[in-house]
Amino acid sequence: MKILIHSLATAVFTLLPPISAQLSGSVGPTTSRTSKRSKVCNVLDYGGVASKTSDIGPPIASAFAACKNGGTVYIPPGDYGMSTWAALSGGKSWALQLDGIIYRVGTGGGHMISVSSTSDFEFYSSTSKGAMQGYGYTFHAGTLPPSSSPPSSSLPFPKSNFQPAGNYGPRLIRLTKVTDFSIHDLALVDAGAFHLIMDTCSDGEVYNMIIRGGNEGGLDGIDIWGSNIHVHDVEVTNRDECVTVKSPASNMLIENIYCNWSGGCAMGSLGSDTAISNIHYRNIYTQNSNQMYMLKSRGGSGSVKNCTFESFLGHSNAYTLDLNADWSSQKVATGYGVLYQDITFRDWRGTCSNGVQRGPVQVLCPDKVPCTGIVVEGFSVWTESGSSVVWKCQNAYGSGACLKAGSGSGYAVVTSTINTAPSGYASDPKMPNDLTAGFALTSSIPIPPIPTTFFPGATPASKLLGG
Ligand SMILES: *[C@@H]1O[C@H](CO)[C@@H](O)[C@H](O)[C@H]1NC(C)=O
Ligand SMILES: *[C@@H]1O[C@H](CO)[C@@H](O)[C@H](O)[C@H]1NC(C)=O
Repeated sequence: MKILIHSLATAVFTLLPPISAQLSGSVGPTTSRTSKRSKVCNVLDYGGVASKTSDIGPPIASAFAACKNGGTVYIPPGDYGMSTWAALSGGKSWALQLDGIIYRVGTGGGHMISVSSTSDFEFYSSTSKGAMQGYGYTFHAGTLPPSSSPPSSSLPFPKSNFQPAGNYGPRLIRLTKVTDFSIHDLALVDAGAFHLIMDTCSDGEVYNMIIRGGNEGGLDGIDIWGSNIHVHDVEVTNRDECVTVKSPASNMLIENIYCNWSGGCAMGSLGSDTAISNIHYRNIYTQNSNQMYMLKSRGGSGSVKNCTFESFLGHSNAYTLDLNADWSSQKVATGYGVLYQDITFRDWRGTCSNGVQRGPVQVLCPDKVPCTGIVVEGFSVWTESGSSVVWKCQNAYGSGACLKAGSGSGYAVVTSTINTAPSGYASDPKMPNDLTAGFALTSSIPIPPIPTTFFPGATPASKLLGG
């Protein structure tokens, strides 16, 4: 809602559809950072030491105990090691101000910072330079071959931290049952597993964030379920979820997202009793990803209803628009299939890698639960190799692409081959400096600055706090 007011004030609002299209109310903390700073608990006063090999976990927990009602837990600029994870439960109207950088030292699983059962919460960096460095590569690289071993003196952690191949380490941040919150102006880098999870949260806002993970699966950027959450102005690099909605979820607005070499944004994986409605994605830029958007299920039950995916732009992606209700990477869930109903894909532009091998439209619905009310309009994604693209539909009703009109009891896969490039596709804008390779799993990923652009031509709703 702050954004709505800001936009009105600057008269930009008239150019945009109502911002609250899919939100069900205001989002974000209900009291200001200033009021929470009337009581500050600085970790340095609770045993914290600014050193990459210290353990900032217990000082954060002690500062939280003292400041969790109406105060600010403050981690000042500086480098801090962390070997004990901080589980911060309860409290009200508090803030976690991370102006320093937390470096993982410990090797336990779980979440480095978890915040649960609280309301009116803000997690931010006032300098926009606060970060968490998960050093995930020590888990993902496999046993370090002696020839490429960095000297121990250059590592902030014991060399025994390196794990055998195929391992995952701790996730960085989890919010569980948090309401009226925001997370912003932070860099989350090289998690041992996922970067940011919001589990059963509501009335929240996430913005001005950058996430950089290793180039393999299992290192999700942002996963969310809950209700009334606005995610905007976020960049993600990894090889799995960019910004993904899981069930149950309702009333989310996700916009101005830059998947700069990633798995791409998605919904799922969806299983039994899926309950998702009123999700709106727009201004999503995706390059070199597994897909521009995927809805994924296999068997299962429940529904996904009334969702809109508009203004998607991208290039060099494997899949593009991909609804797959028989996704082979997923175990079959109990039920006849998830019902997908009233879902609109509007204004998709750019190119895909190979439009015949992996066609840019794939709407494959369950045999026993055909999709209805699917709309594909203003779809002009062309291919980077070859001179045609294919669209594939199955058990899917609605309008546009290869969808059948009306409703019915389903049909086998139909394929349309398009041999004419959409006009103007060659002049679709690109983001400056797209990433041209993923981050290696064998060396540390540098902490990047938070960008100030996330979609061509779109101005972030809020300036970086650090100016
Ligand atoms: C469906 O979404 C639109 C916005 O896109 C909203 O106005 C409408 O209320 C939603 N319908 C239901 C039944 O929630
Ligand atoms: C995409 O990632 C690359 C590699 O880190 C970076 O150089 C580039 O600036 C990013 N693009 C934008 C527009 O932020």
